[in-house]
Amino acid sequence: MTGNKAVAYKEPGKVELIDIDYPTFELKDGPGVNPANVGRAVNHGVILKTVATNICGSDQHMVRGRTTAPADLVLGHEITGEVVEVGRDVEFIKVGDLCSVPFNIACGRCRNCKERKTGICLNVNPDRPGSAYGYVDMGGWVGGQANYVLVPYADWNLLKFPDKDRAMEKILDLAMLSDIFPTGFHGAVSAGVGVGSTVYVAGAGPVGLAAATSAHLLGAAVVIVGDLNEDRLARARSFGCETVDLTKGGPAEQIEQILGVPEVDCGVDAVGFEARGHGHDAKEAPATVLNSLMDITAAGGALGIPGLYVTGDPGGIDEAAKTGSLSLSLGTGWAKSLSFTTGQCPVMKYNRQLMMAILNDKVNIAKNVNAKAITLEEAPKGYAEFDAGAATKYVLNPNGYLS
Ligand SMILES: NC(=O)c1ccc[n+]([C@@H]2O[C@H](COP(=O)([O-])OP(=O)(O)OC[C@H]3O[C@@H](n4cnc5c(N)ncnc54)[C@H](O)[C@@H]3O)[C@@H](O)[C@H]2O)c1
Ligand SMILES: [Zn+2]
Ligand SMILES: [Zn+2]
Repeated sequence: MTGNKAVAYKEPGKVELIDIDYPTFELKDGPGVNPANVGRAVNHGVILKTVATNICGSDQHMVRGRTTAPADLVLGHEITGEVVEVGRDVEFIKVGDLCSVPFNIACGRCRNCKERKTGICLNVNPDRPGSAYGYVDMGGWVGGQANYVLVPYADWNLLKFPDKDRAMEKILDLAMLSDIFPTGFHGAVSAGVGVGSTVYVAGAGPVGLAAATSAHLLGAAVVIVGDLNEDRLARARSFGCETVDLTKGGPAEQIEQILGVPEVDCGVDAVGFEARGHGHDAKEAPATVLNSLMDITAAGGALGIPGLYVTGDPGGIDEAAKTGSLSLSLGTGWAKSLSFTTGQCPVMKYNRQLMMAILNDKVNIAKNVNAKAITLEEAPKGYAEFDAGAATKYVLNPNGYLS
């Protein structure tokens, strides 16, 4: 039997490398597995040898103890891999195929999947619509920050790269297709970005930088990125964004200095519920980004909200925040007829097109987010540095494919 090492959540602030079973075509019991999913047959799945598996801000919510994730939950929803075994019912994906895995697990059979809303598939997570690998309350599908991982409904979920050699030349870019590039793109599209738009992206983490990259790709006239982290803002400037330093206060005044007016056409929240307030030494204030986006987005505009909001947060700043209730000035949004798009990004809606843009040199997403390959053993260090605000997207390299 082949060994399988994986990155597991241990306790707040701590991840560790552990040994787990090599996958079989069955979802077995384990930390965080929904009892209704135990023993589920996955003959429609494949086993992937991971090529790249990235650390995400979404993982950090769990690792910071801001969710109900149990100890030993195997992390990892951003997976790129090579197929090493195919289940009995897989028809088209073959051993040897190099594939990107959308972080949403979707069945391809339910009403939502048929409408391309693969972020809220009805059949993969007994807890609620929507699922992902290695994530709390997502049904218990084992994470892919490991040597090997099981991918269900493989014919439907996997995006096969057309040419392996050509793909390996751009593998760090293609590794961003499992989540942050489609997610940032979805944020921009749902904020209404098009040719000539002015855009404000809150957050210069990997998702914010991916949203800013996407806004450029979609033809935006001006892309402004705001954060409290100067290193991350410098990354945004490196590919032509204007930036707003939120340690100096809210974004409106600085946006006015850039655009001549204190508002933008399109607003993207790439921060989520762990948002900090604006100004020097600002503390956590979870509604900050949503409220400020409502302030600065022009009437009739739209807010793309890939930033994650939760229904339960043990570390919430007050009783309301602990159950995901935030103090929103929704009246502002209503008065301005703003529209909102929240939720998991339906990756499959965008990943093939973005793959084509990468393969044909239309975009440099890995460079823009400063993607960096590290070994599986270095994962705890990568998590710690990312948590401290490094302007880096860490890509784990469990099987030595990324030289
Ligand atoms: N919807 C989806 O499908 C999806 C997919 C991936 C990630 N996410 C979520 O997107 C968010 C961003 O992910 P990431 O990996 O870039 O995380 P990250 O934690 O690396 O980045 C968040 C950034 O926001 C900054 N920030 C904090 N308060 C702010 C404020 N008031 N205004 C502007 N910036 C502020 C932080 O300094 C940090 O740089 C997370 O909430 C993550 O869970 C959602
Ligand atoms: Zn992610
Ligand atoms: Zn479905």
